[in-house]
Amino acid sequence: MLTHKLLALLILTVVGLIALSLPRQLRKPRGLPLTYGAQQQRAPVHTPPKHHVGAFGRLSNEALAAKDRQLRKIRGKAKDTLQPKGSKVLLLTGTDGKGHNGAITGLLEQVEANREEYCAYHGYQFVFMNLTKYVTPKKHPVWAKISAIQEALETNPTAEWVWWLDTDAIIMTPEIDLASHLLNPDILRRRMACDRTITLPDGTSSGLRVPCNMDVNNIDMVVSQDHNGVNAGSIFFRRTEWSTAFLDMWADPMYVNGQFERQEQDVLNHIIINHPKLREHVAIIPQRVINAYSVGGDEMGWVTGDLVVHFAGCWVSNDCDKRWQDFWNRRFVVKPTD
Ligand SMILES: *[C@@H]1O[C@H](CO)[C@@H](O)[C@H](O)[C@H]1NC(C)=O
Repeated sequence: MLTHKLLALLILTVVGLIALSLPRQLRKPRGLPLTYGAQQQRAPVHTPPKHHVGAFGRLSNEALAAKDRQLRKIRGKAKDTLQPKGSKVLLLTGTDGKGHNGAITGLLEQVEANREEYCAYHGYQFVFMNLTKYVTPKKHPVWAKISAIQEALETNPTAEWVWWLDTDAIIMTPEIDLASHLLNPDILRRRMACDRTITLPDGTSSGLRVPCNMDVNNIDMVVSQDHNGVNAGSIFFRRTEWSTAFLDMWADPMYVNGQFERQEQDVLNHIIINHPKLREHVAIIPQRVINAYSVGGDEMGWVTGDLVVHFAGCWVSNDCDKRWQDFWNRRFVVKPTD
């Protein structure tokens, strides 16, 4: 009698365990690029009502279908801007000529030449902005970055994407074109650090995972994270209303005057972590794709072939000048094609 009961319990446990493990098996395996097909399969199936009552009153099924076509058209367009070529990309670097960047002899000239060469090769626009006009005693100079990105978007209407790159960075592999490296739906989908946790500025995990089913066509901002959360030293914005609104909010005086140790960068982290709806527009990608550091482990430190080396944090040590020159001499050089 007892053995029968035990057997029944055992069978129940096994069945329960199998049931528990099922959803996990149904999940998409890691590392595989997601397709829209897979997403659609998982969406709940429902029959549309005969009439849809919305803000615009009753819409016939025909009208709804027309709206649908319109939406698909817009989406198609969005897809186009995800493969920017030539002047549709604007590389932006800005400086007020002060701070640690002034410590290295000839750094600004090198930076300008480095970016110009890269942009000439690919036909990108390059803006080297004097940030002095945006630096006020009331706020930390790093906040000028946001004004610079806003100005670049406003004054260069052909640019679909603005890539902000800090002054203390060198483009090491200028052959890399952004449409095939990153700004392309399929590549971006694969680059997105799906299922990773978002790191907090203090180095601990936020517990938030980047979802694996994000719609790349919704992405308006691309950024990477290091051990202190997102790093705003290399960041991409797409020309959309979302970006305009986001930049506007990012520079909110409440944030500028708030208690954020690493200023605009920690604020960026704060917004991404606390606003799930905004987060749907943010791609967090592995660091070395756009922001390798001059020192660091496998996922962080520059390796031959990486696009950029960024000397973030280097300025606290004294050998920065030497390290910069070392990388400068190792960079690849390209000549514009005809
Ligand atoms: C940047 O602008 C400021 C103020 O207009 C000016 O004094 C400074 O010389 C400029 N720097 C460069 C490198 O042009």
